[in-house]
Amino acid sequence: MAANEMSGDVYYPSEDIVNNAHIPDYDSVNDKAVADLTGFWDEIAKENFEWYAPWHTTLDDSNAPFYKWFVGAETNIVHNALDRHMHTATRNKAAIIFEGEGGDERIITYHQLNRLVCKFSNVLRDQGVVKGDVVTIYMGNIPETAVAMLACAKIGAMHSVVFGGFSSEALLGRIEDSKSKMLITCDGAWRRGKIVDLKAMATVAAEKSTSLEKMIVVQRTNHDVEMKDGRDFWYHDLMADASDKSETARLSSEDNLFILYTSGTTGRPKAILHTHGGYMVYTATTLKWVFDLKDEDVWWCAADPGWITGHSYIVYSPLVNGATSIMYEGTPDYPTPERWWQLVQKYGITILYTSPTAIRGLMKYGSELPKKYDLSSLRLLGSVGEPINPAAWKWYYEHVGNSKAPIMDTWWQTETGGFMMTPLPSVPLKPGSATRGFPGILPDVVDKDGNSVKPGEEGTLVIKGPWPSMLRTIYGDDERYLKQYWSEFKEQGWYCPSDSAKKDEDGYIWVIGRQDDVINVAGHRLGTAEIESALVSHPAVAEAAVVGLPDDVKGTIVKAFCIVNQGNETTPELGEALRAHVGKEIGAIAKPASVAFVDSLPKTRSGKIMRRVLKAQELGEDVGDLSTLAD
Ligand code: WT7
Repeated sequence: MAANEMSGDVYYPSEDIVNNAHIPDYDSVNDKAVADLTGFWDEIAKENFEWYAPWHTTLDDSNAPFYKWFVGAETNIVHNALDRHMHTATRNKAAIIFEGEGGDERIITYHQLNRLVCKFSNVLRDQGVVKGDVVTIYMGNIPETAVAMLACAKIGAMHSVVFGGFSSEALLGRIEDSKSKMLITCDGAWRRGKIVDLKAMATVAAEKSTSLEKMIVVQRTNHDVEMKDGRDFWYHDLMADASDKSETARLSSEDNLFILYTSGTTGRPKAILHTHGGYMVYTATTLKWVFDLKDEDVWWCAADPGWITGHSYIVYSPLVNGATSIMYEGTPDYPTPERWWQLVQKYGITILYTSPTAIRGLMKYGSELPKKYDLSSLRLLGSVGEPINPAAWKWYYEHVGNSKAPIMDTWWQTETGGFMMTPLPSVPLKPGSATRGFPGILPDVVDKDGNSVKPGEEGTLVIKGPWPSMLRTIYGDDERYLKQYWSEFKEQGWYCPSDSAKKDEDGYIWVIGRQDDVINVAGHRLGTAEIESALVSHPAVAEAAVVGLPDDVKGTIVKAFCIVNQGNETTPELGEALRAHVGKEIGAIAKPASVAFVDSLPKTRSGKIMRRVLKAQELGEDVGDLSTLAD
């Protein structure tokens, strides 16, 4: 797939779009931000948000890269997402329009959402949750997930959302790592007409956990589940008795908002930490400017709250902006591949933000399906998670956006909190490029010494300078934070996201993909080490290596190479068992597409597996420099 081929096509936005955009001229705003970064954010933060007390320092870089933003200020993101809207017409506006996989519908106004959050914050307090505690949330894509997140933030507890597709083992690892005492889950989640028994998996994790004390269970699928007395509580029981009056905690701008685990180069996921003030200012501003959010818009970020995209752009930033946000429980092609187009027509959705994988998945059903529906409400489109190949870009543009709606290809990460490289609606587009930095963000592509590469040359992507929603650290592991993100260009003080990229003559950046041992499957990050350690935890496996191989729909798929222990037969059944084992250890998204049995693995003399050799062999490419190969 030619995702990273720099194509020559340029798409210019219509005059109408440019003239009506919040930011009609990218260059002047970017120049202003670059010239005075702190002045720029200072002004935005003052004008668009409410603070209980102002900051004395916009950016404290005295202990870089442990940057702090809006230092001295008191705030709470929930005050800006809910409380302040209670005094305006937004109070009566739909905050969340939820549609279940089976077609059930719930419209929750800001007033109603605020009441739910107030009540649930009191429930958490009654259960002993206090400021600074980590509350784990393991649920589906339903409004109660947002309620739980907001209720934690309201009282100053940190949430740690674990994607509902992860296994009980993955959930347990995250509970233990964060020493979480409280888990919020559901009886089950709907997926392709079947129930995913989240409660059963939560129970397995709870029984093995050394820290978990209590579990609150939301009823969604209504199937029979086992509840343990004194440990497990029904959400609806606790909510029935809870008061709907609740004070929002006055927090400092730099108080912790949440952790979210993401994959890295080792087998152990990293807990990325975000804080209240900077995250609020940056995510809300990026959503408003990039997707040109207006009061009358119906915004649909078709992600899951279990990923950063859901945190930033389903839950927090739409609410801070007082927007109406769609939440859809199901997958794009169930029960029919027309499901999404039905939703766009039904709710008059104006902005759709999704991933290249979803687009390619829908594209394979042809353009007749979107044509059957009235998609004329769509005025802007978005893409995130992986490079979008020009063919998918053009299909999305022509058949979903009716060749009118510009596509905002946003490059960012769990760590960055919000969009980093992205067009604004007024910026000319090139299919496959996330264009340039959001105003004030300085991305560049450099060689090993930090020199900017020439146009067309590949190099390392760096971000030259801090931004408000940057991760503050890896929770509990400052050293790993320094090493992972700031050691490669330590002298220059640049943030290193571990992506490779190219730049073209116009300064547009073309992201190629990960540089580290992370595989991006359907826009989800998986560590090779994580999958390999799951494989070797199976009694039949002695050694394992996994690589990512190109795939037309998912972008990348995982292929595993295993050496079995003596006495095991390398049958297709064992391959199937190993795939299932990875599903159990991590989750279905991590299952290798195929498992090959081998007698040896290519390794360096120091014993490091050379995955690139395996990959090149698979692709029939030149294996390159083999001088470090042991055998
Ligand atoms: C990695 C971050 C940010 C939410 C989704 C993933 C890749 C992300 C793009 C894009 C090319 C992209 C990068 C990045 N990526 N967006 N528009 N074009 N690549 O978040 O799980 O933290 O993964 O996703 O490789 O490093 P994440």
